[in-house]
Amino acid sequence: MYQGSILKYPQFMSVNNQTPIISLMEGRTLLVPAPHIAKLTKVNGIKVYLKMEGLNPTGSFKDRGMTMAVSKAVEKGAKKIICASTGNTSASAAAYAARARALGYPLDCFVLIPAGYVALGKLSQAMIYGAKVLQVEGNFDDALNIVKELSLQYPIDLVNSVNPFRIEGQKTAAYEICDDLGAAPDYLCIPVGNAGNITAYWAGFKDYIKNPSARPKMFGFQAAGAAPIVRGHIVEKPETIGTAIRIGNPASWKFAEAARDESKGIIDEVTDDEMLEAYRIIHDCEGFNCEPASAASVAGLLKASRQGKIIPESTVVCILTGNGLKDPKTAMDQSDMAAAEKTYKADENVIAGVLGF
Ligand code: F0G
Repeated sequence: MYQGSILKYPQFMSVNNQTPIISLMEGRTLLVPAPHIAKLTKVNGIKVYLKMEGLNPTGSFKDRGMTMAVSKAVEKGAKKIICASTGNTSASAAAYAARARALGYPLDCFVLIPAGYVALGKLSQAMIYGAKVLQVEGNFDDALNIVKELSLQYPIDLVNSVNPFRIEGQKTAAYEICDDLGAAPDYLCIPVGNAGNITAYWAGFKDYIKNPSARPKMFGFQAAGAAPIVRGHIVEKPETIGTAIRIGNPASWKFAEAARDESKGIIDEVTDDEMLEAYRIIHDCEGFNCEPASAASVAGLLKASRQGKIIPESTVVCILTGNGLKDPKTAMDQSDMAAAEKTYKADENVIAGVLGF
């Protein structure tokens, strides 16, 4: 029986028989073909797949790292964990802390989030899972500085991706892609925020694919209003509709650059308009779902293919990092609200008329 992502790949994880595994059966997410997006790239013979990370237990890839971070925290006897978050990390930390408590380990979870910039679904998850949610008057980078400092000064474990166990756990998505495809893809397109995930995927491909030339090129994409790696300097006031990646000073900046350089990849930016267009395409033309920041991977693929950076006959995997249901507001803002709000008389003939019959 499937026992979660750590026990699926224990040989690559820092666990032993003594480690209490705190799992919600994360991982084993679907890799789905995206023929419409493939067509839009206009690249001959291309195959495009979407890795549906929104299918994880709390609806984002964070669960893969959190199962490791929380298992290791519990192993060493931690009683409190803390993180800064644009939303998904907080939802995941809160859920895994609840699971730890269910298994008999007392563990309190504290999360700091940028006031006013966390999608409602994520905030409600952290709350119902019993975390203490603290909204700070600042952005994610400010919140991360605070929790880093607190974890140095007080007995509280940091579960942001600066925690190496988070990165270790997140590598499992790369293993799954290789298992599903029977090989690594040629390109891996991925949104970049705090840059932990691109770091983890690259480490995962390096673990799994011994031949360096058979590893994918890492194509990371930041939001244009929050693109410090692209610009080469910290962005003091990051802004983007993809609030998950509204980050101006990524913790894993150097590792992301290493992933780019070692894989001969790129880290580029996509505008909010490009992200929203891809967000619509993923829903309306493929039938799959994701949150706005996740669509940066597809927006990036479309941009890179317009620029001739994707060679014919290649296999591309775009990571859809989070579930679309987390951010209903953006979905509704992108739709025809006037039409949705109009009400009709409960009458068959009236409705038939509206349907155009
Ligand atoms: N996509 C989603 C949906 C995210 O929530 C995040 C990060 C990213 C992409 C970027 O991944 O930070 O590893 O480069 N969310 C973090 C959070 C910052 O707090 O939930 P990254």
